[in-house]
Amino acid sequence: MPTTALRARAEIDLGALRANVRALRARAKGAAVMAVVKSDAYGHGAIPCARAALEAGASWLGTATAEEALALRAAGLTGPVLCWLWVPGGPWRQAIEADIDVSLSGMWALREVTAAARAAGRVARVQLKADTGLGRNGCQPADWAELVAAALRAEDEGLVRVTGLWSHFACADEPGHPSITAQLDRFREMTAYAEERGVRPEVRHIANSPATLTLPETHFDLVRPGIAMYGVSPSPEIGTPADFGLRPVMTLSASLALVKRVPAGHGVSYSHHYVTPGETTLGLVPVGYGDGIPRHASGAGPVLLDGKWRTVAGRVAMDQFVVDLGGDEPPVGTEAVLFGPGDRGEPTAEDWAQACGTIAYEIVTRIGTRVPRVYVNASM
Ligand SMILES: Cc1ncc(COP(=O)(O)O)c(C=O)c1O
Repeated sequence: MPTTALRARAEIDLGALRANVRALRARAKGAAVMAVVKSDAYGHGAIPCARAALEAGASWLGTATAEEALALRAAGLTGPVLCWLWVPGGPWRQAIEADIDVSLSGMWALREVTAAARAAGRVARVQLKADTGLGRNGCQPADWAELVAAALRAEDEGLVRVTGLWSHFACADEPGHPSITAQLDRFREMTAYAEERGVRPEVRHIANSPATLTLPETHFDLVRPGIAMYGVSPSPEIGTPADFGLRPVMTLSASLALVKRVPAGHGVSYSHHYVTPGETTLGLVPVGYGDGIPRHASGAGPVLLDGKWRTVAGRVAMDQFVVDLGGDEPPVGTEAVLFGPGDRGEPTAEDWAQACGTIAYEIVTRIGTRVPRVYVNASM
């Protein structure tokens, strides 16, 4: 426990994370789980979350960047890791030497990885990514034959081993969206094409959190949940975390820094977008957009303070915001809970997302490094 009071803290419940991974494994029986820990595990802390996910039975880790994958290795995590976002000149050789699977979406990447494999004198583990309809990263169907043929030639030369064939959904969080079956059909066609020509992947995968939770036909050999592992629903449209047996992992709180009585008509925070409607008390919550609190929460973000939901009054500033306490005078140091699992009456990350016009992914991921992560239930 810290010896001095913290201005703010993001409590990370690793027990909840482990239980979430177990719940996801139960939904995807027969498939392995890749714990997606990119972007510092959606703001929760990549290394502790990766360890907890593996303890709960995840067998792969997934990151966007090579640097994120190399950081997992530097922390001593030795199991399978895939990273998928590359630019020319990336650290291919370090990734190969660290036994990290790298994703290839085009010929330029295959050329770079084979050159690095030759230089390292090692076989690169590569996964071919198909654009089955997301229209983002991944190889277009029209270019797939060329990529598959070149990867097979590189396999014959002993430079690469194709360990995976994979893709990513555009609209898996929109039940019944026609792109889901279209992408699935294309994925089946593209993987079948590669396998008919001799690719022998260890894993074929396409399912993110919403697909893992609601579309069993998408599970193949492995599922790749991110947000669900952190106990947040991918979309309120498909259900709440509790509907899927998930529990939010992050609780963000701050220590009330000032309480003061002000008269009616008092402007609050920059630009005076809030003016007190009557004599009242104001509470100062010492976190702001410098900590990742969205400025879009101005006049809208909910906070549990002294047993009641309060609303951000006026603008969120870089380091602080104000709530109208309506005459209440909780002592300074009182805990203000911005979001958490919701079962102590506090708002959730989803409540913040709705208040700010964004998604809960962004709310948790953007919480900045100035907010210390405090890990609880770290041991099994
Ligand atoms: C390629 C890839 N796979 C899996 C995920 C995990 O997605 P989700 O957090 O919706 O489970 C992401 C996240 O955006 C991703 O980019």
